[in-house]
Amino acid sequence: MVVKIAVLVSGRGSNLQTIINSIEKGYIENAGINVVISNKGDAYALERGKNHGISTVFLDPSRCDNAGYDRKILEVLKQYDIDLLLLAGYFQLLGPEIIEAYRNRILNIHPSLLPSFKGLRAQKQALEYGVKVVGCTVHFVDEGLDSGPIILQSCVPVIQGDTEKTLTARILEQEHIIYPEAVRLFVEGKLKIKGRTVISF
Ligand code: GRF
Repeated sequence: MVVKIAVLVSGRGSNLQTIINSIEKGYIENAGINVVISNKGDAYALERGKNHGISTVFLDPSRCDNAGYDRKILEVLKQYDIDLLLLAGYFQLLGPEIIEAYRNRILNIHPSLLPSFKGLRAQKQALEYGVKVVGCTVHFVDEGLDSGPIILQSCVPVIQGDTEKTLTARILEQEHIIYPEAVRLFVEGKLKIKGRTVISF
């Protein structure tokens, strides 16, 4: 069976690109990205999708309320018969209807070692807090903010003199490693959730 993937994006889409590359190179087998959906019309991620012959959809959030917007996303997911939904730099919370419809089939990448530094500008939060180790997390998405069961994490040091930019770049390198790995584990059916704990085998 081929796992049909949709990717929700808002921006530059470097994580989307690594997933595309991982599928094209055969690191992730038996899966394909069927559609890229953006809530920003000018997201560069849309170009990345098009460059690889993937359908892209811009859904304008200003035209409806939150629940209505979620229904629009769900319509697209149904239209493409999507099995797995990936959030890759998607800067908007998903509503309960989508979470319920895709329970344990939505993954997100977050640039911190969760549960620390949830929400926006996690790298800046970490710098301001003064932590010495940072990283990134791939997790299942539930109703909370960056709160679902953790699949993979990777850490990097904070180096004296780091800025938000240098730290973000160091973390991003790791994001590009663990997100494709988590997707591969999911696609191969190698993830099991027990309470808050994800077991991979
Ligand atoms: C990444 O840092 C990701 O962890 C966060 O948003 C950023 C998106 O980057 N959720 P990109 O659009 O994938 O390049």
